[in-house]
Amino acid sequence: MNSIMTDLHTDHENFVKLIKLLEKLLDKFEHDDDAPDLHLMLDIIDYVERYPDLIHHPKEDLIFTVYLNKSQDIPKVIEQLQLDHEEFPKMRQEIHQLLEGFILDVGLYPRKAFSNKVRAYLQRQLDHLNTEENALFPHIIETLSDDDWNEIATKMPEANDPLFGERVSDRYKSLLNQLIS
Ligand SMILES: [Fe+2]
Ligand SMILES: [Fe+2]
Repeated sequence: MNSIMTDLHTDHENFVKLIKLLEKLLDKFEHDDDAPDLHLMLDIIDYVERYPDLIHHPKEDLIFTVYLNKSQDIPKVIEQLQLDHEEFPKMRQEIHQLLEGFILDVGLYPRKAFSNKVRAYLQRQLDHLNTEENALFPHIIETLSDDDWNEIATKMPEANDPLFGERVSDRYKSLLNQLIS
């Protein structure tokens, strides 16, 4: 597998770790009256804005475009994935705002409704990356040539992953500790 696809696959593995941690935090949030770790949840959502939404999905969109120029085999799958890429930031933004409401204690939003909303978002993220891994990436790997990958590489946004990359941003150090503990 070429390095671009390997990186995307590694991102997916990392996102699954975050999804699992957020699900655990939601369990606490739903059932525990003690102050849940809202700041940790906010760090996760903040990271989603900075890396998956800003870097990972645009990288995939670029690859999808090159793939679609060569093959129209599975247009419905790609259509749904592109729609997800468009809608994820809106869903994430709403969750971000609700979380800040809980942190400032100004939200009258019910905890359970919030939790359901986040769980629906996480499930869609999981479905999304599983579809990419199982229903699309094998077609992409089979279809694109070395020249295509070279062209894609010149257009790729180059960015350090601030949580799982070589340089961990100060903001995410406690989040990373939670993930590896
Ligand atoms: Fe994606
Ligand atoms: Fe992805």
